[in-house]
Amino acid sequence: MDALIRFILNGQPEETGEPGDTTLLQYLRGTRCLRGAKEGCGTGHCGACSVLIDGQLRRSCVTKLKAVEGRSVETIENQARDGLLSDIQRSFLDAGAVQCGFCTPGMVMATKALLLKNANPSEEEIREGLKHNYCRCTGYVKILQAVRLAAARIRGEDPDPESFRTGESTTVVTGRGQDVPPLKGTAVGRSVWDVDGPAKVTGTLKFCDDLDPADLGEESMLWGAFVWAPAPRARILSLDVTQAEKAPGVVRVLTWKDVPGVNKFGNWTPEQPVFCRDEVRFLGDHPALVVADSDRHAREAARLVKVEYQALDDGIYSMEQGYRRESFIVHTGRQAGDVESARKREDLVRVRVSKDIDPQEHACMEPESAIGLYRDGRVTLYACTQAPFEVRRNLAAVLALPEERIRVVATPLGGGFGSKCDSTVEAPAAVAGYVCRRPVKITLNRYESLIAGTKRHGYHTDYEVGFTRDGKFEYLDCRMFSDGGPYECESYGTLMTGCLMSGGPYEVKNLRVEGSAVRTNNLLGGAFRGYGINQAAISIETALDMAAEKLGLDPFELRRRNAVRAGSYSVGGERLEHSVGLLDTIDQCELRLRQALREYQGKYPQGSRVLGWG
Ligand code: FES
Ligand code: FES
Repeated sequence: MDALIRFILNGQPEETGEPGDTTLLQYLRGTRCLRGAKEGCGTGHCGACSVLIDGQLRRSCVTKLKAVEGRSVETIENQARDGLLSDIQRSFLDAGAVQCGFCTPGMVMATKALLLKNANPSEEEIREGLKHNYCRCTGYVKILQAVRLAAARIRGEDPDPESFRTGESTTVVTGRGQDVPPLKGTAVGRSVWDVDGPAKVTGTLKFCDDLDPADLGEESMLWGAFVWAPAPRARILSLDVTQAEKAPGVVRVLTWKDVPGVNKFGNWTPEQPVFCRDEVRFLGDHPALVVADSDRHAREAARLVKVEYQALDDGIYSMEQGYRRESFIVHTGRQAGDVESARKREDLVRVRVSKDIDPQEHACMEPESAIGLYRDGRVTLYACTQAPFEVRRNLAAVLALPEERIRVVATPLGGGFGSKCDSTVEAPAAVAGYVCRRPVKITLNRYESLIAGTKRHGYHTDYEVGFTRDGKFEYLDCRMFSDGGPYECESYGTLMTGCLMSGGPYEVKNLRVEGSAVRTNNLLGGAFRGYGINQAAISIETALDMAAEKLGLDPFELRRRNAVRAGSYSVGGERLEHSVGLLDTIDQCELRLRQALREYQGKYPQGSRVLGWG
């Protein structure tokens, strides 16, 4: 037994014999069931686990329990008193600074630490005070407003929350160039606390990893930890689980043999193995899952599973390599008009653009998590998913059960942005719950989330556009390739959308667009805000800027001449009948950018900085 550690927790004496190298976050979330502090990274980078120690902001995921001996620890659970939110919590809601809420408890604690030191911080001081706390949803503008509002309230002022909304437009444009006052009403134009807002600012909203057995109507729970692929491409020669099965707390080690139905999942084309049998095809593949009585035991035992691999040298790690080897997941495209004839015209001004666009990680603050359980002949899966119905359809095949015996409960999302459209832990958790006949929770750590989760696809695009000398868009001829990784996931959907938006929001008479998703051994490509359109937008807008320069036209004017309007056909072939706001949008973009440019030039002497705008 380790020596007792004594400290003050939320004003009350606390005493524990837990090992001193347990982190404070593990103690709070595990032993004390205080789930307000979240684990976003576990490495001291994101601030989701923030607490106060002797009034100082600290990250509990990298603070050892022994370090709090004799100190005073304060958590989010101690901020609301007698059923009343604190000034800071109220201000976050009033300012609309809360979206998914996963970062919010940490933000509230960081704000408290700041305001304890400085009751009237400047914007720069607020940024400095909150610089170790990340939010992936709000863009920080509202958070800065919330802190200023809270500071005013704590100083005893009675501020109007609306007056803290600086830097925002109060202009609503309803017709080209026509300004009207902001909308009025009891809710329209004002921030209202959404139904789970108070739960988010108090840290009581239960994300998937926060769920206890009692929340599921169960008495106990098991945890699952994966055995990950050691390399992106290898053959599995043998798999030995005997040591792992004997490890402390281990209940079972699952492999492909334990999957009752089809060992594959995926939204569009199920082809990703639940557990790899013969080979691994990217770093996020896994041949086994260890199920144990605690997360720590499961992870320790996963290291004891012996897998013999043979490295394979036929891996594909670039779209070019994949293209040469004709390794494709899917093709799509669209044609309209007569591109070949348009390309032969000598009176047109032509521009060619090639772009390589890197993949992008969503970095949702909440890592992937799911709990599978079996009861009374039915399987229930709790998961932070954006696609519960696709998951249910998938699970029916994986578990060999009819859909009506499967229920998928989508828990609050701590950010998704598209990455939780595809499955990661859902099928393994459901299989584990079904096989073990007890609830099994799998929560990825940040590293695992990075290797197993999808990314915004990397793209290569080749664009050729032709314009008449007076700036009319005559033709578009383009090819786009996306890096899908080894399994389809959302590759078809995103590529198809990219093709449909390849010409942007412009009228294009003649077009030919071909898209191919390349199968590689890189990380998986998937949905991300914009769903394949952003890569196309970057390419077409670059081409338009270059064409404007070549034509000697203002880039805004070139866009106005070709913008879709009511009655136009989109590149995807849809007739746009109502409410086409592109011309207004272009006007507003020009207005704001020119205004920003003037302000910028007034602020910084010529040549002291470079301004990028787009
Ligand atoms: Fe502790 Fe990210 S800083 S969870
Ligand atoms: Fe900040 Fe979602 S509200 S991460």
